Amino acid sequence: MIAIGSDHGGFELKEAIKKHLEAQGVAYKDLGCYSAESVDYPAQAKKVCDEITAGNARLGILCCGTGIGISMAANKCKGIRAACCMDYFSAKYTRLHNDANVLCMGGRVVGPGLACELVDVFLNTEFEGGRHQRRVDQVMALENE
Ligand code: RB5
Repeated sequence: MIAIGSDHGGFELKEAIKKHLEAQGVAYKDLGCYSAESVDYPAQAKKVCDEITAGNARLGILCCGTGIGISMAANKCKGIRAACCMDYFSAKYTRLHNDANVLCMGGRVVGPGLACELVDVFLNTEFEGGRHQRRVDQVMALENE
């Protein structure tokens, strides 16, 4: 299952991504927001991250206006490695090398066509492990300092 969420700035993009996931038969849980009414992105980030850390969701997708604020908030949640990606290479390599578990995008930055391509590569690329595991472990150890 994939957890997905947004603030108002990413709402339309989230809705487009949901349609794309449905067309592909990918199961998801929408943690809101549920309209274009203004909401604060940190709370939205936490809802999606909680689904991942609880083990309910394999990966998450978060959208705000830029993708940046919601990625900052997500990265404050323990166990989360959120990557704000607006290009294909980054979305692929953040899975391969960083084992990112949340993809963040900006609804005011990328269109739905590109965003859905980024979602596809993010969801379908596995972590390479090996030397990258050591580095990811070092990243996660920073949570305890
Ligand atoms: C909301 O206007 C906007 O600030 C938010 O969606 C996001 O872009 C923050 O990083």
